[in-house]
Amino acid sequence: MKKKAIILLLLIAVVSVAVYFIGSGKVSPADWQSGVLPGKLSTAHASLETNCASCHTPVKGIDEAKCISCHANNTALVQRQPTAFHANIGNCATCHTEHQGANANLRVMNHEALATLGEMFLKDEKASDRLKALVMHGSHPLVSAQEAKLDCASCHGTKDKHQGLFGQDCASCHATAQWTIPAFQHPSVLSMACNQCHQAPPSHYMEHFEMVSMKIAGQENVIVSQCYKCHQTTSWNDIKGVGYYKHH
Ligand code: HEC
Ligand code: HEC
Ligand code: HEC
Ligand code: HEC
Ligand code: HEC
Ligand code: HEC
Ligand code: HEC
Repeated sequence: MKKKAIILLLLIAVVSVAVYFIGSGKVSPADWQSGVLPGKLSTAHASLETNCASCHTPVKGIDEAKCISCHANNTALVQRQPTAFHANIGNCATCHTEHQGANANLRVMNHEALATLGEMFLKDEKASDRLKALVMHGSHPLVSAQEAKLDCASCHGTKDKHQGLFGQDCASCHATAQWTIPAFQHPSVLSMACNQCHQAPPSHYMEHFEMVSMKIAGQENVIVSQCYKCHQTTSWNDIKGVGYYKHH
């Protein structure tokens, strides 16, 4: 009984000191349990500045059940392919660190941390297949060894600019910071291999192709796979010998 009372008193003291220092702005990152003080909360959570227990639970540290209790009803987040993992990933503080100051960005993606979580789920018999499937294996030069274990397409398939022509292994060509590839130089307009990298729209495989596309382009004896006869590398709407084609 006595021991519990002392621990409780100590905790109250730690929290009061913490609140005092945070209020005064004299703070540095540290450990909740040892009583050292962290930095200011982000603007989004500023209203919780005097209520540490809204996120922390003594001894346990960050209590993700508390994060979820405030953020559970975010259907837009769970319905969107790249962030659908929120439905069951847990471990909120892995990506959403706090105390980085008022202007800190709470919405930064940490693919390294994600891969580490994925490996953890792989070893956990109780984890769902979906969480296990976050990681796959391979060797990829553009991402770190840890990130290379992720199944990129499971979260980014809807952004695939290549309509599946380049396969599902996005990390064999892409890094995680940006989709653009600075070193990429598009093949020359003289290339005749356009169809190896580009898929024509469905309309090209319907009557529309003969009735409209071929007429606009002024081409007669061509088949769909000969993109280069009608198209250029500027834009799909820049038709050879015609120029910009305005859709209705
Ligand atoms: C909006 C939720 C939230 C509130 C409110 C909050 N914290 Fe935190 N706190 C966090 C997160 C997230 C971390 C990062 C935990 C991690 O790295 O695993 C953290 C980390 C810490 C740490 C570093 C040790 C650790 O557990 O990792 C301390 C110390 C800490 N908080 C103290 C406080 C104090 C004191 C208050 C009240 C003034 C407070 N926090 C309020 C979310 C919060
Ligand atoms: C007492 C309720 C409450 C708790 C507990 C809480 N949050 Fe929040 N959180 C909010 C509110 C309110 C906002 C600002 C409005 C919004 O975006 O919904 C917010 C915003 C956010 C944002 C968006 C920030 C931005 O810049 O757009 C993230 C991410 C977030 N919280 C994650 C967490 C995590 C992780 C935890 C647990 C460590 C947590 N929250 C705990 C209420 C809470
Ligand atoms: C693997 C990293 C990761 C983990 C783990 C994670 N999140 Fe997120 N979360 C993100 C990223 C990245 C975004 C921003 C997505 C965007 O808007 O582009 C986000 C967005 C959010 C938002 C919406 C912010 C806004 O206003 O748009 C909330 C709320 C949120 N997370 C809460 C949580 C909670 C609660 C948990 C734990 C159950 C959690 N997250 C676990 C990476 C993560
Ligand atoms: C569990 C889901 C998940 C996996 C797996 C994943 N990502 Fe992401 N990724 C996200 C989220 C969430 C963001 C933040 C932007 C957003 O919400 O669209 C993001 C952002 C990015 C961005 C920044 C560009 C942008 O659209 O904002 C790139 C590039 C990227 N990821 C590439 C990759 C690659 C390459 C892999 C495989 C090595 C991968 N990702 C694996 C969820 C994931
Ligand atoms: C064989 C290599 C390769 C593979 C595999 C690949 N891509 Fe690409 N991707 C490229 C190249 C090259 C570009 C053009 C980059 C540029 O213009 O900077 C590109 C461009 C993109 C862009 C547009 C970038 C921009 O903003 O202009 C997105 C989005 C994209 N890829 C997503 C994906 C996704 C998602 C996957 C996996 C499903 C994937 N890619 C697989 C090579 C690849
Ligand atoms: C080695 C593969 C490759 C070949 C061959 C190729 N392209 Fe591309 N092309 C790409 C990639 C990768 C991108 C960037 C991703 C995207 O937008 O699809 C791209 C982008 C484009 C774009 C820009 C699309 C936009 O919306 O901005 C056009 C137009 C284009 N290519 C036309 C052509 C034409 C016409 C040919 C043949 C003369 C051709 N390409 C040959 C890989 C290739
Ligand atoms: C006979 C000439 C011709 C050939 C061959 C051809 N196209 Fe087209 N394509 C057109 C014309 C004309 C348009 C614009 C009007 C329309 O929709 O028919 C167009 C439109 C497009 C568009 C834009 C669709 C939109 O909604 O913005 C894409 C993408 C495209 N073509 C890709 C291809 C690819 C990839 C190939 C080769 C596999 C190809 N085309 C072969 C004539 C052609």
